[in-house]
Amino acid sequence: MQNGSQATWGGRFKDLPAQNMIQMGESVSFDYKLAPYDIACSRAHAQMLAKVGILTTEEQQAIDEGLQALLKTIEAGEFDWNPTLEDVHMNIEQALLKITPAAAKLHTARSRNDQVATDTHLYIKDVSAKLIAKIKACTLAFVDHAAANLEQPAPSYTHLQRAQPITIAHYCLAWVEMLYRDILEFENVNERANVCPLGSGALAGTTLPIDREYTASLLGFVDSNGNPRVTTNSLDAIASRDLITKFAFACSQLANHFSRLAEDWILWASAEFQFIHLPDAYTTGSSLMPQKRNPDALELTRGKASRVQGNLMTLLSLSKAQALTYNRDLQEDKPAAFDSAEQVSMILDTFADLLPKVAFNHAKLKEAALDPILFATDIADYLVEKGVPFRDSHHIVGQLVAEAEKSGMALNEIPLETAQQISTQLAEDFYQVFDFERSISKRIATGMPNPRLNAGLIEQWRQKIS
Ligand code: ARG
Repeated sequence: MQNGSQATWGGRFKDLPAQNMIQMGESVSFDYKLAPYDIACSRAHAQMLAKVGILTTEEQQAIDEGLQALLKTIEAGEFDWNPTLEDVHMNIEQALLKITPAAAKLHTARSRNDQVATDTHLYIKDVSAKLIAKIKACTLAFVDHAAANLEQPAPSYTHLQRAQPITIAHYCLAWVEMLYRDILEFENVNERANVCPLGSGALAGTTLPIDREYTASLLGFVDSNGNPRVTTNSLDAIASRDLITKFAFACSQLANHFSRLAEDWILWASAEFQFIHLPDAYTTGSSLMPQKRNPDALELTRGKASRVQGNLMTLLSLSKAQALTYNRDLQEDKPAAFDSAEQVSMILDTFADLLPKVAFNHAKLKEAALDPILFATDIADYLVEKGVPFRDSHHIVGQLVAEAEKSGMALNEIPLETAQQISTQLAEDFYQVFDFERSISKRIATGMPNPRLNAGLIEQWRQKIS
């Protein structure tokens, strides 16, 4: 402890770090969030050191008890984090040293490089599992809406122009598909995280006879048969940040899905659409315009998605030009990853509560879905069934649309005589094409909006997700 606060690596230094260096170099103001994982990591490491004879049982026990006591202090918010000790690892180690002299042996065969990598793996495993549970809640809310609206008409859009009739269920199940892929993505992140870097040391392991597999098992880095999973190259294990980047990507993709949903529903909640009613609890008023009911939760979701995408870019560019192996730049990975996790978690909590409370305005959705113009493609298909080549039938329907526009009529109000002047294939039964049930029930191949198909899917989703 010759030069005070820099005791752990200060042996070769004459001068203390500049105040600017301390300020720039400290990470404890954000990586304190790794404390529970860091403590788990140290407890397992000490247990392994005792197993291989580097620590005595007494030393290991003193360390273990000390670490458990520190965890309690930290959880109670009573730990005094000190930025001159740089990071969470040094803070905990130094605090432990005040509890037991055995703490001076804890950092044997270990570096902060493999320590932070291991903490990060544990963090990502933990957070991913929590996010998956939250995504499931949102997904099930959409499944419930689908089940309650199996045959309820809704319009669909491309280019934000009315396209073809669908059902509310079909719309909701589209979100289920997206969110389910997010679940798979986080499961995949979890699988990637499930490998223990500890024992890689600073970059080339250690000359001491450690048992990496034992530590990995203690920390739960095991495969489905309970066999330990450890990283197999020490350089890669401490230099790579693709796991954290992958995690940030999964967060970005998830945020994007909700941002897109938010965009739809901001429109749908407007006076122009009136397709949904948002719960009061997720809208706000205007300080000036008394009539306002602003969809703030949705707008903030869109805004937060941008922020989460920014985090992904931070991580990608952080690691793109670093000589192997560890460089201090890598410390900057954590604010981005933590922020992505926290923002996405907030979005999920919001939607898990908001989704079941959204009310669909059946009348308005139906009115839009039954607009005869949405059946234009159905008429083209009708003509195809009469033997007209699709390119021709498309052209014929185009002429019908032009005629309707010219005469100020709806598509299904064009008299048969006029219609037949455009195509003799248009017969009396042409008017049946504008029937919503007909249109939906004929869309029967896999992935289409037929209510029977969607009813089957709803059952499958419930089994898959619960
Ligand atoms: N706080 C550091 C980080 O997050 C821990 C690793 C420090 N390693 C070092 N060689 N200075 O990256």
